[in-house]
Amino acid sequence: MARTSVASIGYEISPSYWNKGYLTEALSGFLSAYWKIHPEGLQGSKLDESGRVFVDATALENNAASLRVLEKAGFVSVGQETAKDWYGGPDVVLKRCRVWKPVE
Ligand SMILES: CC(C)(COP(=O)(O)OP(=O)(O)OC[C@H]1O[C@@H](n2cnc3c(N)ncnc32)[C@H](O)[C@@H]1OP(=O)(O)O)[C@@H](O)C(=O)NCCC(=O)NCCS
Repeated sequence: MARTSVASIGYEISPSYWNKGYLTEALSGFLSAYWKIHPEGLQGSKLDESGRVFVDATALENNAASLRVLEKAGFVSVGQETAKDWYGGPDVVLKRCRVWKPVE
């Protein structure tokens, strides 16, 4: 997978707690804190063609729950890429999503 970021995070929650809004709340809270602490992004963060700082995310194209979490946290789809399967299976398709720092 092409890495454009300087850091990455992942998320997973026990199935007993799925679909209660917890990860949307956690991701939204994380982003809010991230922009407060790193208003210019982490050192080395790239800017888009308009000079705006952003955070990228990827999720498997068939991971509807994760893609919905991203959407609810403000991410929009910006493309897709093929990546090696982590477990050695056939290549997988990842959707690439992006959220920009909110305009103040
Ligand atoms: C992805 C994951 C973290 C989501 O956590 P969560 O706390 O259940 O997420 P939320 O409750 O905030 O939101 C889930 C949304 O996905 C929707 N959703 C869940 N399964 C879905 C499906 N099969 N198709 C469409 N939408 C689905 C829910 O309805 C909800 O959207 P809504 O609020 O509009 O109804 C959780 O499913 C998980 O741990 N999965 C396994 C690990 C994983 O896939 N991690 C992400 C890797 S990129």
